[in-house]
Amino acid sequence: MTAPHLETTVRNLYTTSTVICGDSREVLGDFEGQADLIITSPPYADARHKHYDSVHPDAFTDWFLTFHEPFWKVLKPNGSLVLNIKDKVVNGVRHRFVWHTIEALADRGWFAIDDYIWHKTNPMPGYWPTRLRDGWEYCFHLAKSKRPYFNPDAVRQPIGSWVETRLRSLGENDLSRHNSANASGFGRDISRWVGKQTVLPTNVLSLAVVGKNKGHPAVFPLDLPLFFIKLLCPEGGLVVDPFAGSGTTGLAALSLGRRSLLVDNNPQYYQEAVNRLLDEGAAVLLDGNGSGRG
Ligand SMILES: C[S@@+](CC[C@H](N)C(=O)[O-])C[C@H]1O[C@@H](n2cnc3c(N)ncnc32)[C@H](O)[C@@H]1O
Repeated sequence: MTAPHLETTVRNLYTTSTVICGDSREVLGDFEGQADLIITSPPYADARHKHYDSVHPDAFTDWFLTFHEPFWKVLKPNGSLVLNIKDKVVNGVRHRFVWHTIEALADRGWFAIDDYIWHKTNPMPGYWPTRLRDGWEYCFHLAKSKRPYFNPDAVRQPIGSWVETRLRSLGENDLSRHNSANASGFGRDISRWVGKQTVLPTNVLSLAVVGKNKGHPAVFPLDLPLFFIKLLCPEGGLVVDPFAGSGTTGLAALSLGRRSLLVDNNPQYYQEAVNRLLDEGAAVLLDGNGSGRG
């Protein structure tokens, strides 16, 4: 899709967000070496043809690789790329274009730091003859180096009431590290939790699917970019979403004091993102050659 060049920057008390209507393969060239984190959800293969361009699953890997160089160049050496994506059932079986794409990116130098799972707490109801309801999506954490910026303390969670219950009944075995009774080799030391208020989360994020329409058919939950921005982007850093849609990543970045660059090649979604930042991000118009509000 050829898009007119529209650009709007908004600001809140702490930071700015720039929304650009264009093809991210071209737009990112102006920001080389500036980004701390790319977090994004690309168009899913063959999905949502009615709404925006997408590609056949067989062609997805080659298509996605056209973004490899712009993504690599826009990131700082210790930057990260988080890809929220899901494969698709084609003729009754899971197509593996997501795995092929991640392997192809690894061949081009991306380190696969971890695979996170977004567990959907309210998945679509339905019946499929050979499958159950689909309740999760991938969030791949890729990076240019094996030691990208990483701040786990920023995503610590309250330790939760299960620990209090468990601690009240500490037995002798719990007071020192030991292997479980069946000799599985998994040592545990429950007493280490005494006095702790927070714990590191796991790499499974349990978040509800966004039900409310945000003027875009595939909005991810705000908590998803919030989590990864806290974890992978330093304060004051730059977050990029090259498939920005309704601008969810920009909202998260605004609320966390990170600068953001949002790119979408569809003028309608560009405008939706600007409107959302103004309406939900406590932001005001800073400048722009695009319309401030559609
Ligand atoms: C899955 S949606 C992203 C939704 C977004 N995470 C949200 O919460 O609203 C993918 C977006 O990528 C955009 N897109 C597709 N190809 C693009 C390209 N070459 N450059 C920029 N945006 C593109 C589509 O218009 C679509 O809005």
